[in-house]
Order: sequence, then structure tokens, then C-alpha cells
Amino acid sequence: MALHLLTIAILLMSRLWFIHSVTTPSEVEVLRALKQGIDPNSIPEYSFLSSWDFSLDPCESPGAHFLGVLCFISDDNSSLSRITTLDLDEAGYDGFLTEEIGNLTELTSLNLSKNKFRGPIPDSINKLTKLTTLSISDNFFTGSIPVGMRRLKRLQQLDVSYNKLTGSIPTWIANFRTMISLRMSNNGFSGRIPSLAGLWQLNVLDLSSNQLFGSLPQLPTSLRTLSLSHNVLSGSVHLLWRLRDLKTLDLSDNRFTGSIRGVISLPAVTAVNLSVNWFTEIEVAKFTGRSTMLEVLDVRENRLQGHLPVNLVTIQNLTAINLSNNQFSGPIPRDFGLRLGAPWRRVYLDHNFLVGTVPPEFGSPKIKVKGSLASNCLKCPRNFTMCGEVPHLRQQPKQGKE
Ligand SMILES: *[C@@H]1O[C@H](CO)[C@@H](O)[C@H](O)[C@H]1NC(C)=O
Ligand SMILES: *[C@@H]1O[C@H](CO)[C@@H](O)[C@H](O)[C@H]1NC(C)=O
Ligand SMILES: *[C@@H]1O[C@H](CO)[C@@H](O)[C@H](O)[C@H]1NC(C)=O
Ligand SMILES: *[C@@H]1O[C@H](CO)[C@@H](O)[C@H](O)[C@H]1NC(C)=O
Ligand SMILES: *[C@@H]1O[C@H](CO)[C@@H](O)[C@H](O)[C@H]1NC(C)=O
Ligand SMILES: *[C@@H]1O[C@H](CO)[C@@H](O)[C@H](O)[C@H]1NC(C)=O
Ligand SMILES: *[C@@H]1O[C@H](CO)[C@@H](O)[C@H](O)[C@H]1NC(C)=O
Repeated sequence: MALHLLTIAILLMSRLWFIHSVTTPSEVEVLRALKQGIDPNSIPEYSFLSSWDFSLDPCESPGAHFLGVLCFISDDNSSLSRITTLDLDEAGYDGFLTEEIGNLTELTSLNLSKNKFRGPIPDSINKLTKLTTLSISDNFFTGSIPVGMRRLKRLQQLDVSYNKLTGSIPTWIANFRTMISLRMSNNGFSGRIPSLAGLWQLNVLDLSSNQLFGSLPQLPTSLRTLSLSHNVLSGSVHLLWRLRDLKTLDLSDNRFTGSIRGVISLPAVTAVNLSVNWFTEIEVAKFTGRSTMLEVLDVRENRLQGHLPVNLVTIQNLTAINLSNNQFSGPIPRDFGLRLGAPWRRVYLDHNFLVGTVPPEFGSPKIKVKGSLASNCLKCPRNFTMCGEVPHLRQQPKQGKE
């Protein structure tokens, strides 16, 4: 086995060494131009870019030189290599992505994340039609998504998050049929979210922290992670019940209204964050034979009315619940007491209109639970520390604070 691998390794190396492939000269020029677009003072000594030594051939110098560059021996010209990957390190490179990038037409992966690139995404990017991965996250790119990018139909991963991009989320994004991960969070994108139902392989959609408004678009049922927090989205969320593979849902800090129900019962969901919205109702189904994976439920700061959803106690793996800052009324169900400590480790019911006596477990010094019952109309004994205003981990029961 080891010998076999060694043979393969030797074959691969001889391919590199004996074919004497050289990089297509115009592509070397592109690398040179790209490096020139970056302030030399922002190129640290041990960074990828400082290893680019133009007295050598990029595709012929594997190892210590031209770090971040990978090549492929082109089919249509066996003697010249083409650059297929340009993945820079997080060195804080400060500069512009120059138009020449569009000449690396065999590129399948371009990753410039966590640097200080600024200015617009060059229009020439439309020539990189073989790209499957494009990440420019954590930079200072400005302007909108160039319309030419609609030609990059092989993209599987697009990450433009944490930039200063503006404009709308292009509707043609729906044509990227092979997209698996789409991240556009923390920018200044505005307008409505176009229908994304056609992205039938999409696992991750993160559009959080933008200025998106309107209602939820059609979404592909392949989604596992959906994050739309910190926008101005509105309307109901009931269509999400179709997302049977969803694991993580974060719609916090928007203006969603209506009832919370289906999403809590999704078979794969482990974390639901619907906090800081305008929801008025929550319905939790009773889980008996059926199970749900839900571990974290955060619905704080809504306008939820009615009694506390007693069926929460039937969710096997739930550990953290935040129902604070709502308009819940009525008593705390006795069964809530039985779940305290294990499995419920964080229980926030503060700032509601709860009345009546508190189940005794809430005062038991043996039960370790973080949480608060403060600011309700409960008969909350002074020595129940959870009744105090400041939520903290209880160890010894102390004099309760009002
Ligand atoms: C990039 O391609 C354009 C058009 O094909 C050409 O005019 C230009 O010289 C090329 N630039 C480099 C650096 O190869
Ligand atoms: C093949 O390589 C030669 C240089 O070795 C170059 O002149 C020619 O244009 C290349 N042909 C193609 C199809 O890329
Ligand atoms: C891009 O590079 C960064 C680090 O430099 C890495 O964390 C990230 O996973 C890469 N993105 C993709 C899509 O490969
Ligand atoms: C839910 O979202 C809010 C606001 O975005 C955030 O502050 C909070 O930490 C999140 N909750 C959980 C449990 O992650
Ligand atoms: C609860 O969590 C455990 C492990 O974390 C997992 O094996 C189990 O399937 C979960 N139960 C339900 C009902 O989701
Ligand atoms: C629950 O929400 C309250 C305020 O709405 C916040 O102070 C507390 O940190 C939250 N707890 C958890 C565990 O998210
Ligand atoms: C709280 O005080 C009452 C009497 O005032 C006492 O019976 C009870 O055991 C105390 N509970 C705790 C948790 O100390």
C-alpha cells in the first residue's frame, strides 16, 4: 500500500518535473499585475504574496514559492500550465483587485478573504466562468454585485460577507443551480430577497445584517442553515415548515408577525432564534412518539400573548429557552419545574405578565439553572434568586433582590 502510494507520488512529481511545463506567460503577467495592485507595505515577510518571486515560474515552483497559486496542465496546450486556484492568506493585504484578474480564465477557486481589498469587484470577473468557489469576505469592497457575475454559473460557494457592498441581491442568483453556500451578510444590500427556490442544492443561506425588506422569498428545501437576522423583513414565517432539513434558523431582529408554530416542529432543527420581532402567538405541538432535535429556542422581545406553551416540556433535548420580554400571562406550568436543571439549563421568563405561585424547583438550591423570572406579577419568594432583576447562576440561595 505504502509502496503503491510512493509510486503514485513519484509519477505525480515526475509529471511536474519532467514535462517542464511553464505557466502561460500572460497569466504570469496577471499575477504580477495583481501583486502590483497591493500596497507593498501591507505585504508581510512571511505571507503568500511575499513568496511570489517572478524570477521563477509560478506553476513550476511548488512548495516555497508562489504560495496560494495552483496550476493545471491545460488540455488544449499540453506544454503550458494554467492557473486554477488563487487562494490568498489572511495577511491584511491592502489594495485593489485589478481588472487583470479576469484573464485567469481557468480559475476555479478565488479566495481573498480577511484582507483589506477595497474598491469595486472588477467587471472582468465575468470572464471567470469556471469558478466554483469565490470568496472575498472580510474586506472593504464597495459598489454592487457586477451584473456580469450572472455568467458564473458553476459557482458552488459564494461568500461576499463583511464588505461594504450595496444595491440589491440580484434576481439572477436564482440561476446558480449548483450553489451550495451563499453568504452575503454584513453589507449594505437593500431591497427584497428574490426567489431562491431554484437553488435546489443550497445548504447555507446567510443574508444577515443588511437592509433587506419585504416578505420571505421562496426558499429551497435543501437548506440547513438559514440566517436572515438584522434586516427589516416582515410578514409570516409559516412557509418555513417545508424546510425539512433545516438545522439552524436565525430570523432575529426583523419585523416578522403572526404565529410561531411549524418551525419548532421541523424534524432536524436544533436552534431557532426568532427574537426581536413582532410575533404575537406561539404554538408548540405535543411531542410524544415523534421527536424533535430542538435544543435552543429564543423568542425573546416579541409580542407573544397567552399562556406559556406547556408542551415545551415534551421536547426531549431542549436546554435553553428565552421567552423574556413578551406579554405572556397566566401561571408558570408546574411541569416547567420538573425540567429545570436537567435538561433545562437556561430559562428566561422575565418581563412578562405571569401570575401565581412559582413551582418550588425554581427555588431549589440543588438545581443549577441560569435564568430569570424578574418583572412579572408572580408570588416570587424573596429567597428565590431567579426572582431578582439580575439573571445569574445560582449557587447558594441569598436574599432576593427586587
Ligand atoms: C488581459 O486580457 C486582455 C484582453 O484579452 C488583454 O488585452 C490584456 O493585455 C490582458 N492582460 C494581461 C495582464 O495579460
Ligand atoms: C500553445 O503554446 C504556445 C507557446 O508554447 C502558444 O504560442 C500558443 O498560442 C498556445 N496555444 C494555445 C491553444 O493555447
Ligand atoms: C477562504 O479562506 C479563508 C481563510 O483564508 C478560509 O477560512 C475560508 O474557509 C476560505 N473560503 C472558502 C470558500 O474556501
Ligand atoms: C438570537 O439573536 C439575538 C439577536 O440577533 C442575539 O443577541 C442572541 O444571542 C441570539 N440568541 C441565541 C440563543 O443565539
Ligand atoms: C438528543 O440528543 C442526542 C445527542 O445529543 C441525540 O442522540 C438524540 O437523537 C437527540 N434526541 C432527539 C429526540 O432529538
Ligand atoms: C434572554 O433575553 C434577555 C433579554 O431579552 C437577555 O437579557 C438574556 O441574556 C437572554 N438569555 C439568553 C440565554 O439568551
Ligand atoms: C425560602 O424561605 C422559606 C421560608 O421563608 C423556606 O421555607 C425555604 O426553604 C427557603 N427556600 C430556600 C431555597 O432557601
